[in-house]
Amino acid sequence: MLTLMKPEIELYARQKTANHGELLEKLANETQESMAMPEMLTGPLEGRFLKQMVMVTGARRILEVGMYTGYSALSMAEGLPDGGELITLEIDDKAISFASRYFENSPHGKKIKIMKGPGLDSIKQLTGEFDFVFIDADKVNYSNYYEAILPKLKKGGVILVDNVLYSGEVLDPQSENAKAIHAFNELVSNDTRVEKVLLTIRDGVFFIVKK
Ligand SMILES: C[S@@+](CC[C@H](N)C(=O)[O-])C[C@H]1O[C@@H](n2cnc3c(N)ncnc32)[C@H](O)[C@@H]1O
Repeated sequence: MLTLMKPEIELYARQKTANHGELLEKLANETQESMAMPEMLTGPLEGRFLKQMVMVTGARRILEVGMYTGYSALSMAEGLPDGGELITLEIDDKAISFASRYFENSPHGKKIKIMKGPGLDSIKQLTGEFDFVFIDADKVNYSNYYEAILPKLKKGGVILVDNVLYSGEVLDPQSENAKAIHAFNELVSNDTRVEKVLLTIRDGVFFIVKK
């Protein structure tokens, strides 16, 4: 798992954080055993953070960009009330069939709707306002996702964006992904439409609130 924290501090934080339960444990283990790039999964610390953010904001309608095997989607769905909705965008068939099996086995799975295809195309098709957004897909499109989603976010709505420290590469961005993330961080940092805090949880999470 990507972390900029000392491993023993990360472990301590995980041990003092709420347990993610048997189903997410099984999902994480099966992802590790059978999927490419299991390190993409947000994991217990960030997953519990996502759930709690959904709870404290009272979010009822969530948009996720980048579902992978469904760990973060299920974590956030746990924090939604009955009748709440989470729309998650994913391009990969294997990830979709994997996550769907777990959604079927969760009492919160019925709150989740998967939209298959390139995230930017799916966002264009979405109508109505969202009150909570989690961006965790292809890094080169972070700024595009942000600009496409902001008009669909309610005033006071929250956007969380994952991997904004990119293993520390943002300090000296060389790769295409690191450059794109650094440009995104600059965009948000200078954007007067939003309040923002860059949190150093795991690989960096941008916490953005629309004014
Ligand atoms: C970092 S993973 C998401 C991890 C997930 N949020 C979790 O915590 O388990 C990124 C996902 O974005 C998907 N993705 C990449 N490019 C995409 C695109 N253009 N549109 C939609 N999904 C995309 C990938 O297939 C991958 O499953």
